[in-house]
Amino acid sequence: MFINVEGIDGSGKTTLINYLKTEFTDMHFTKEPTDSFEFDKLKKLDNKYDSIYNFFLFTYDRIKHQEEIKKNLDKIVISDRYLISSIAYEGPLIDQFFNNMDETINYILNTSKMIILPDIIIYLDADIDISINRIINNRKSLNKNNKILSILEEKDNLKNVKMYYNYFFDNLKKFTDKDIRIIKIDANRNINEIFNDAHKVIKDIISNL
Ligand code: ADP
Ligand code: TYD
Repeated sequence: MFINVEGIDGSGKTTLINYLKTEFTDMHFTKEPTDSFEFDKLKKLDNKYDSIYNFFLFTYDRIKHQEEIKKNLDKIVISDRYLISSIAYEGPLIDQFFNNMDETINYILNTSKMIILPDIIIYLDADIDISINRIINNRKSLNKNNKILSILEEKDNLKNVKMYYNYFFDNLKKFTDKDIRIIKIDANRNINEIFNDAHKVIKDIISNL
């Protein structure tokens, strides 16, 4: 069973996963970008080709990540971000090469044919302003551009990211034959309410195995 936790930056994925790690010690937890992701190779998005380069950088990382996921599928594997993050984040940046969102998403999925899809996606659905405030309130230092937020975390970018997440979830049947279950959790609430919901969701998944 392969579960993927998704959501915009600041939606609380890492916080939730850290909690789940303490509650479900027999599961295998993993994440993207992986620890070997080459952050220094990410292009600054100065021109339109940078977005394609970055998409392949995340895809390269993911293809290697496959080995770890597949090796642990005798357990429940939970990944903090996965292929759907490329649809949501790189989709709006590479869609200038395509005619519409459908073509863009199909391109990403077709390029990722060798990558297994998750069985379940837990989507932390958070408002952009709430998420950005959380990031700003908790970040301790500026990045190399002397800013608190990265380009990907800026409000205008996150609007597009959210649009792609929602479009993909709303039109799932159009994009894949796999019966992926999408579970949305209202992530605007306090941490304990989110933990409780996620705990129930995972218990329910285990009891239906
Ligand atoms: P993500 O991994 O989705 O980017 P994080 O888990 O890193 O998000 O959370 C971003 C920041 O917001 C962290 O500093 C975290 O402590 C805080 N945070 C996470 N969830 C909540 C919540 N439900 N309410 C308030 N603050 C939160
Ligand atoms: P991450 O470390 O998960 O950030 P956070 O924990 O703050 O959510 O991811 C770093 C950034 O990488 C994040 O802004 C989203 C982006 N990203 C992509 O653009 N494409 C991808 O395929 C993945 C996995 C991440």
